[in-house]
Amino acid sequence: MVYQSTDLETRKPKSSLLPSKLPALNRPYVVLSWAQSADGQIATRTGDSKYLSSPESLQVQQILRRDCDAVLVGVGTVLADDPRLLCRLSPAENPENRQPLRVVLDARFQTPSDSSLCKTSGEGPVLIIGAMKQNDLSPDDKAAQQDKEKRIRNLMAAGVSIARTVIEQDSLPSRLKLSLHAVLDLLSHRGIRSLFVEGGSAVITSFLKNNVADRVILDLSPRFIGQGIPAVRDLGVLALTESRRFHTISAETWGENVVWVMEK
Ligand SMILES: NC(=O)c1ccc[n+]([C@@H]2O[C@H](COP(=O)([O-])OP(=O)(O)OC[C@H]3O[C@@H](n4cnc5c(N)ncnc54)[C@H](OP(=O)(O)O)[C@@H]3O)[C@@H](O)[C@H]2O)c1
Repeated sequence: MVYQSTDLETRKPKSSLLPSKLPALNRPYVVLSWAQSADGQIATRTGDSKYLSSPESLQVQQILRRDCDAVLVGVGTVLADDPRLLCRLSPAENPENRQPLRVVLDARFQTPSDSSLCKTSGEGPVLIIGAMKQNDLSPDDKAAQQDKEKRIRNLMAAGVSIARTVIEQDSLPSRLKLSLHAVLDLLSHRGIRSLFVEGGSAVITSFLKNNVADRVILDLSPRFIGQGIPAVRDLGVLALTESRRFHTISAETWGENVVWVMEK
């Protein structure tokens, strides 16, 4: 069912963005959500992505930040957009000022200690997950190791928590991918029951490829970018039977955009 924007004056979704009861899983319930152009790009080729959401549909992102235990991005998004990832809903809409645990997948600990995430560590917790020591740099490269240890010390001094986990076996040395199963396990052990994954492209692709997305919420903008940064990269799908299949729960207009909620 598609609702008209006149129904949205209360700025509340007609159907809920999260299930009323989270299913029992041995990992957090994962919601992938991003804003994209009608032709599937999350940014222009120069990385410009502000804003593909409409002023109205930006509320969806804010509601998810309030209602999920944690929000996660890749370090590529931190370096490109310098986000704070805080819930900025008004006190009327977020009376307890709930803030999610803000998580960054950052194998080499490249998040700048003067990033907006670090600067706002007093407003809500931040967790940077990197690779186990033996995985990230050659032990022979002493200077690089020392450099990285210094970055970690600076991050910790900025009030950020650090964790390390294993990388996927097919990771290239130039682009390390943390094992998502290990990441989800780690978050589960920290009491995270719902996880909102905001992007970017590499991270969205990893979650879909690993079949660990329970819900996808697309914020569709009625514009075309052509060649930009695609939301989803190669999933290795050759036959339609191998595609990642979801079912529509709802589609609502939020201003100019359509928010499409789908579930596995
Ligand atoms: N429109 C939207 O809603 C939206 C939302 C978010 C971002 N964006 C856009 O997306 C762009 C950034 O996307 P991106 O693809 O460059 O970066 P990204 O997905 O944010 O981060 C990718 C990086 O995360 C690290 N990583 C660690 N484990 C990973 C894993 N299992 N899978 C994937 N990555 C993992 C890797 O770096 P290391 O090896 O160094 O750890 C990897 O290079 C920006 O232009 C931003 O504006 C748009």
